[in-house]
Amino acid sequence: MIQRTLVLIKPDGVQRALIGRIIQRFEDAGLKIIGMKMVWVDSDFAKKHYSEHVQKDFYKSLEEFITLGPVVAMVIEGVYAIEVVRKLVGPTEPRSAPPGTIRGDFAHMSYDFSDSKGIGLKNIIHASSSEEDAKREISLWFSDDELHSYKVVHEIHSMG
Ligand code: CDP
Ligand code: MG
Repeated sequence: MIQRTLVLIKPDGVQRALIGRIIQRFEDAGLKIIGMKMVWVDSDFAKKHYSEHVQKDFYKSLEEFITLGPVVAMVIEGVYAIEVVRKLVGPTEPRSAPPGTIRGDFAHMSYDFSDSKGIGLKNIIHASSSEEDAKREISLWFSDDELHSYKVVHEIHSMG
């Protein structure tokens, strides 16, 4: 039940100075940040991270987007963290992401607008979407010694 997931505050989120407010939402939910760093991704690394999308029509725009500035990368741990983080993040398209979600509250772009302009869908944040993806993405972004084991106060509430 305790899972780890990879979260990226994408270049649009960093440039819009939303780092603190986004991290706050995960801390507020009682999730634990066990690794964090700022990284400026290059083209090769982007292809590794988004390997499932490399062949798709939108990939060129996506790569330009994810490499346009630094991202903040985090590993977040908690009970069903993969699912819970995706819930806080919201659906991929900000246009249809509900209020209360990170993508719904901090962005409003649509697929058709981004595609018509030939630009990436600016949606602030990435989060792993399955256990398999989380495992692969965490090992791509972080080495074992960059992930930390420590207690947060919320763990008092999870003691039997
Ligand atoms: O990020 P998420 O897992 O919600 O969505 P995805 O379908 O795995 O797509 C990865 C990322 O590609 C999205 O978050 C968008 O930023 C980007 N994308 C895009 O730029 N243009 C599209 N037409 C579709 C996705
Ligand atoms: Mg995805």
